[in-house]
Amino acid sequence: MELVHVDSFGGPEVLKHKSLPTPEPGPMQVRVRVTSIGMNHADLMGREGKYKASTGEPTFVPGIEAGGVIEQVGQEVDVSRIGERVVLAPSLPRPIDGPDGGTYRSHIVIDESLALLAPNALPDEQLGAVWLPYLTAWGCLAWKDQLKPGEVVGISAASSSVGLAAAQVVKALGGTAVGLTSSPAKAEAIGQLKTARFDHLVVTHGLDSDGKRTMRPWYKDIKSLTGGRGVDVFFDPVASGEYLSAEVRCLANGGRIYIYGLLGDPGVVNLAPLIIKQASLYGWVLYEIIQAGDAVWQQACRDILERFIDGTFKQHLAMTFPLGQARLAHEAMEKGEHIGKLVLVP
Ligand SMILES: NC(=O)c1ccc[n+]([C@@H]2O[C@H](COP(=O)([O-])OP(=O)(O)OC[C@H]3O[C@@H](n4cnc5c(N)ncnc54)[C@H](OP(=O)(O)O)[C@@H]3O)[C@@H](O)[C@H]2O)c1
Repeated sequence: MELVHVDSFGGPEVLKHKSLPTPEPGPMQVRVRVTSIGMNHADLMGREGKYKASTGEPTFVPGIEAGGVIEQVGQEVDVSRIGERVVLAPSLPRPIDGPDGGTYRSHIVIDESLALLAPNALPDEQLGAVWLPYLTAWGCLAWKDQLKPGEVVGISAASSSVGLAAAQVVKALGGTAVGLTSSPAKAEAIGQLKTARFDHLVVTHGLDSDGKRTMRPWYKDIKSLTGGRGVDVFFDPVASGEYLSAEVRCLANGGRIYIYGLLGDPGVVNLAPLIIKQASLYGWVLYEIIQAGDAVWQQACRDILERFIDGTFKQHLAMTFPLGQARLAHEAMEKGEHIGKLVLVP
């Protein structure tokens, strides 16, 4: 078995390769030959020591999602599962086998109940890239918020894997998806993407007269395209002070803001308008739906997979890298020029 591990926090150079004996599945377990490891911004944070709730201290194996093909089963597991293509269930941090148990590896031994049958609509290289984008968006907008048809949703970081998934979720729920992205070039690239389902795209940043990247007063664009009414829901992983202040300004009465990431720099936010708008600000983390119990997250997973089967959801992979090039993949993700999901293939 090949794996990638981090033995000290730092830049992409701390990603190291190792070969270990391939593990055998125990009773009620299966061994999955991994065909797809979805990369997430959290992997970069984990490598840098900014997500210790997930990684603990080094040494650890990064990665929080994967999928592949069952190649061996343990006792009490039906042998007919050998050869099944599976997505590994979303899980609390440290999903596989203890503190060093991330998914950057060629083989994973896991309880058979957590290896969910994948639909044919998902190609092998996408098997490990479903839950972080889609369950994060579906869990927040469909399950927690219970978004109503006709509502308008502002989706920050529109080019991210979660942002692209969120637009598809909003359209599936009958809403209007307004994507916010950081540059005109990205807006154009997203606009040309067949799988992108945004009704509108708004550019949040531009260059000032000194060539410095600054935030535009994009809340005016939102006001204008909603006829002055504003947005019902913001789904936002940026959450910098100036960004949140703009969201508060163009939030509709009764609106909701969900913060689910920490990409931006913290800063002062004027929350006072939330009073008059009777609006709310929430934190959202995927694990909330998992902690709600097996019946809840399993239903959400079925709802999502059914939408892959009927073609409502389609994922866009930005780039795939061999697992052996995890370092290059981290460097590419850090550049932030990609649109969609990055995937490692063992
Ligand atoms: N709470 C949860 O359960 C949960 C689950 C999954 C992911 N997340 C979070 O969701 C976010 C997106 O994850 P991802 O894996 O899809 O990331 P990603 O593909 O690397 O997307 C990053 C994108 O965020 C936007 N962005 C805006 N401000 C940024 C800044 N200051 N620094 C970097 N990027 C900035 C950019 O898009 P534009 O140029 O289009 O603006 C950038 O391309 C991350 O914050 C991640 O931690 C949270």
